[in-house]
Amino acid sequence: MLDIDLVRQQCAACNKLIHFNNAGAALSPDSVTEAVIHHIRLEQELGGYEAAGLAESRVNNFYQAMARLLHCQSDEVAYVENATRAWDLALSSIPLTAGDEIITFGSEYASNYMGLLHLAKQKQLQLTLAPLNEEGLADLEQLEKMINKRSRVLALTHIASQRGDIQPAAEVGEIARKHGLYYLLDACQSAGQMELDVGQLQCDFLCGTGRKFLRGPRGTGFLYVNADKLNELEPVFVDLEAAQWLSTESFAWRDDARRFENFERFVAGMIGLGLATDIAISTGLDAIATRIAQLRQYLEQALQGLEGIRVLERSSNRSGIVSLSNEHETAPALKQRLQKAGINTSVASAINARLDLEPEAHQAVLRASLHYYNTEAEIDRFVEELQRSETG
Ligand SMILES: Cc1ncc(COP(=O)(O)O)c(C=O)c1O
Repeated sequence: MLDIDLVRQQCAACNKLIHFNNAGAALSPDSVTEAVIHHIRLEQELGGYEAAGLAESRVNNFYQAMARLLHCQSDEVAYVENATRAWDLALSSIPLTAGDEIITFGSEYASNYMGLLHLAKQKQLQLTLAPLNEEGLADLEQLEKMINKRSRVLALTHIASQRGDIQPAAEVGEIARKHGLYYLLDACQSAGQMELDVGQLQCDFLCGTGRKFLRGPRGTGFLYVNADKLNELEPVFVDLEAAQWLSTESFAWRDDARRFENFERFVAGMIGLGLATDIAISTGLDAIATRIAQLRQYLEQALQGLEGIRVLERSSNRSGIVSLSNEHETAPALKQRLQKAGINTSVASAINARLDLEPEAHQAVLRASLHYYNTEAEIDRFVEELQRSETG
């Protein structure tokens, strides 16, 4: 059982505003922000390299914390500045040749999808969309039928930015493994919301970001790389962190996931993300998921009676992201009005979800994303504000 009062005491901002933009960037625990500031001060006082030397164990804690979070080895984790870059690095390291097929879904994150278009054009690959069922989830039967001898990669976004349904990532992973496909899982919105076990998910890559449900600092992210696949993978970039310069003619890649890293990075952010991850683990990912589910149900029930409001999620497997449209007000106007009332939400626009929102003729939808530190009283305030648009 979570002590929500304590959790809120440990995050001063919780008591100053209503933050339903956790899918954008969650509020960090105060101790995380303090750890980041502390390290930046050390850098100023001692010098950046000297501060990093002194903080070595706190920096390296990032790998151990991530390994516990994802149930993998610490040498299967790379620090990357955000989820998009981590995903791009993973995709572009896969050995592919003209005619190879990549399969993805209409719920794929916008930047990932553009990355697929880009690579498909560069390498003359076939990019195929697998269907989603009427609940908006990957249609596993159809997916399996589509796989053919040119299929090489499966890419799935665990929870989309614009809709909070949770995709059957483990089942997709099982299909990928069965057919020998590389499986890229974007867990940007699921990391910190629920348990993630890369063995169970059977993914070869999993990317995430620090600032969302993990409550870490902005400008931080991570990439998990399956150690069994590592030697097949060549990152597009090389530097002194990723590889060792052996002779004037040669270099050797690192033999762990850190071959995907840069030498230069936001060290204070890495310390902060390691600590935020420790906090998520000690809070308990199952307890977090249960609390989020309770809050989401409370919100959805309150929304049910509201005229003109439509919730977009379609499955029975939902996360803390609740997307809605309001007949009486555009999403940007609603977001702005809520913000003036001290309630943070965000807007998912159709141009960033063309395969998902555009076919349903949505311009944009409002996204209320709940985290475990939110409360029922905050949801009541949110619903009260929503109702104002009905009455004008
Ligand atoms: C599903 C999903 N994937 C990836 C990203 C990109 O994350 P980042 O901004 O850290 O690159 C986002 C950001 O909103 C997202 O929602």
